Amino acid sequence: MQIDIQLLPLPPSIEILSGRTVVVIDVLRATSVIVSALARGGAEIIPVSTVEEATRLVETFPRGSTLLGGERESRKIEGFDFGNSPAEYTSEKIRGKRVILTTTNGTKAFHSVAGAKEILAGSFLNARATAQRCLDSGRDILIFPSGDKGRFSIEDVACGGMLIERIAERRGRHLDLSDAAFSSRLLYERFKGGLVEVLRLSDHGKDLLALGLGEDLLYCAQTDITDLVPIFTHGVIRIF
Ligand code: MLT
Repeated sequence: MQIDIQLLPLPPSIEILSGRTVVVIDVLRATSVIVSALARGGAEIIPVSTVEEATRLVETFPRGSTLLGGERESRKIEGFDFGNSPAEYTSEKIRGKRVILTTTNGTKAFHSVAGAKEILAGSFLNARATAQRCLDSGRDILIFPSGDKGRFSIEDVACGGMLIERIAERRGRHLDLSDAAFSSRLLYERFKGGLVEVLRLSDHGKDLLALGLGEDLLYCAQTDITDLVPIFTHGVIRIF
């Protein structure tokens, strides 16, 4: 089993994607929202790239069945039901509902890897289960951190490093790590004693702190609070 991680969020070629399991990671905050919303009973998430696409698509579903969520510049979009804080997606509001989600980086990342054999949503919140699912797939793995407008995101790569460590613990020596995967494992080692530190030090974490969203950092730094692994298939993210 080979594990690679794409340190910059550039769309991989179809040759790289086909046959692989890809894990999309956006710790702050898209995949943490996706995992949380589905764990609280949301029916499904449709990740879309633009606000226009989201507002057009919501009209095609029966009224009341579908909610709009997401952010631009980390702020709730006017007219939307939710912003991008996991705490907003409560069981009361989300149970049985579909959410059309558009975020700056995370929702686009799923479409960048759409040619993969299997696409999972990973975060610290579901790291153990995601690592197990990667192992069960038996396929080569590509971890795809969403980054920040094309740039490296330290928190996403550290989360990738955690997945790699967990896969390595179970798989033992029969694991082929790329240089990037090896490096992200080392990065995770540096922060594993207190993951909130890497979120606070990150560029995006600092932006969220400046907006008074420090609670989101504390929440997203939690590990293994659910064993659910959302899967993106045919344009929709669900738990199967
Ligand atoms: C993203 O997709 O870029 C993020 O989830 C942004 C955010 O923290 O709201």
